[in-house]
Amino acid sequence: MKKKFTFSEEYFERETIATLTTLSNGYISVRGDPEFLESKQGTFIAGVYSYTPVFYRELVNLPRAHAIYAEFEGVPLKPENVLYTLDVEHGLLEIESTLTSPLGSFAYKSVRFVHKNIKGLLGIKASIKSLNARGRLFVKAPVELEFSNPSVPQEVSVRLFRVVSLENKAYPRVEVVTADDRYKVYIASVASSVPEATVNNFTTNSKIGQVLSLDVRPGDILNLERLAVYGFDSSTVDSALTNAKSRGLEGLLQEHMREWEKEWREINLNVSGDEELADSLIFNTFHLLQIYNDQSDVFAIPAKGLHGYGYRGHVFWDTEIYAFPFYLFFKPDAARKILTFRCRLLEAAIENAKRNGYRGAQYPWESADDGVEATPREVPLDLTGSKKVRIYTGDQEHHITADIAYAVDMYYRFTGDKDFLAECGLRILVETARFWTSRVEWDTRLSRYVIRNVIGPDEYHVGVDNNFYTNLMARHNLELAASYSKRAQSDISLRPVLDELRVSSEEITTWENIAEGIYVNCGEDGLCEQFDGYFKLKDYKLDPGVIGEKSLPPSVLQSIQDYQLIKQADVVAAMFLLREKFTREVIEKNYEYYLPRTTHASSLSLPMYAAAALYIGRIEEGLRMLKIAAQADLADVYKNSKDGFHIGSAGGVWMAILFGLLRLREGETITFEGPEKAYGLKLSFNIKYRGKTYRVEL
Ligand code: BGC
Repeated sequence: MKKKFTFSEEYFERETIATLTTLSNGYISVRGDPEFLESKQGTFIAGVYSYTPVFYRELVNLPRAHAIYAEFEGVPLKPENVLYTLDVEHGLLEIESTLTSPLGSFAYKSVRFVHKNIKGLLGIKASIKSLNARGRLFVKAPVELEFSNPSVPQEVSVRLFRVVSLENKAYPRVEVVTADDRYKVYIASVASSVPEATVNNFTTNSKIGQVLSLDVRPGDILNLERLAVYGFDSSTVDSALTNAKSRGLEGLLQEHMREWEKEWREINLNVSGDEELADSLIFNTFHLLQIYNDQSDVFAIPAKGLHGYGYRGHVFWDTEIYAFPFYLFFKPDAARKILTFRCRLLEAAIENAKRNGYRGAQYPWESADDGVEATPREVPLDLTGSKKVRIYTGDQEHHITADIAYAVDMYYRFTGDKDFLAECGLRILVETARFWTSRVEWDTRLSRYVIRNVIGPDEYHVGVDNNFYTNLMARHNLELAASYSKRAQSDISLRPVLDELRVSSEEITTWENIAEGIYVNCGEDGLCEQFDGYFKLKDYKLDPGVIGEKSLPPSVLQSIQDYQLIKQADVVAAMFLLREKFTREVIEKNYEYYLPRTTHASSLSLPMYAAAALYIGRIEEGLRMLKIAAQADLADVYKNSKDGFHIGSAGGVWMAILFGLLRLREGETITFEGPEKAYGLKLSFNIKYRGKTYRVEL
């Protein structure tokens, strides 16, 4: 297993490396920007959002507490040849560089960690060695306060917190509050060195911190330790920092490393046979694992992880459909907390449905911390705001409601966790089914229930009627509500939920009738139309292997809605998710039709097509797509990794392995059925199923 990933600015932009080397413990998240360089990005705390124009609410760019700026004889040192190494086995970022000035040079090395158990704690151990310098070295360790959130257009940024107090007595301590007053955050930090240096405190408008200084000669090494704590409460932050100081950085670092070793031992992942696939699978697994905070009651996964500002920290269907299976089998507690996050937002989803004239619960396409629709309606393209793009997904991409219900069922089937159903799972199924009941319309011409004016997973086609994915998932949602409610009627722990929600037998029958009557347009040959009128659009096929829109002639790109081109798996996604309802031949028929018409402009596309290909036995083709999907970030396939980590794609690769390649099925014990031939790929890992650990070997 590859354990260390090294990056240099020769191959990647600095901002991309910062995403790839982000460290997180699911509570705080620190991008991999070198300590000695100024950065526009500070630190995130999971769940700390604030109101912002255009995007409604977004993750707040908080003060940065990991900078280490060195000056020699009053001249700032400049880095050369920065090398970044992400040690995934131990959850560390190592940075090396030569820091130079006309008066002398230094070798810089650091090890950074975001403690796996002590959630607010960040530690850095750095050594600064004089190569040829003789004189006074100054090292500043500030908490930096000048951070704002990048907005649109690019020139605009919005400051999402205010500094409430600054204290620099025993150590620097900052209190900030988000611009909307919702979250208070305290940050305290302390730096020390061996040999001991002279320490002075400093406070300016933009920084508060310590400066350490001492005389050095060539060969001298300054060993520096920096600890910082983030938290919501001043006394907790103070005691955490005092504790950390007394335990010492080295002890904390060793403990952190042991915790990561334990995490990997539990999963015991081994991949070989294809080095690039193996590397990216391990790399992605590390990032999926590290964003989970096991001490939190909820787990909200932004589409770009806690790794950057892409999509503003909003949560999409990427979570329930793509990332969920990974957590379900490797961290079932995390899977429960993903759904608990949706439980917390159920009331908001009910409000959302009401606001839009529907019944039940309608989950927003994009969620922040409060569950109100967070999709931007209009995005300005220039500073005056005269040019704007209208975004319709928030109004029309309704399938997310059914996607959440789908995950509730998957969770229950694989865990048997009835307490969760009683606590909230059943409620989600009922209220989401009620939404679809009010969302469908009866079409007298077709004598069917139809769903008009939606956007499916393929977002090139807006305002379409009877999107296959939406209709099928809505039908599934209604069926789930009916079957779970029927079972609940005679279950003493679930019956009270039905009573409280006033679910009657008539209502259950209505769900069943609507589900049965939902319109789905499939020909006798099994080919299904993605939405009404899709087959009448102009045809266009892409060359095999093309990813993205680059190869499209401008005329096609400008009127893409007039073509059968699609952005990502849609019909095929529905068929894979509901694979038990389709024959292999039907899935293959649709796969063959839609694949050449798909641009894969969304990183969610390839994992889904890979999953379908593997499931129907087209292993070689499936593995090819799986590999590209797995490399989404490590090879920056979509050229936007600087904005954050592609959680849906990283998780989607695991979905494809678990359900496509291995066809995991629930039962008394879990079963899987590997492919006849795996083209040299060897894969083994431990999964959790109903309280037991199973070893899977391919
Ligand atoms: C995709 C969506 C996805 C979102 C966030 C969009 O480009 O089309 O399906 O949910 O990105 O990843």
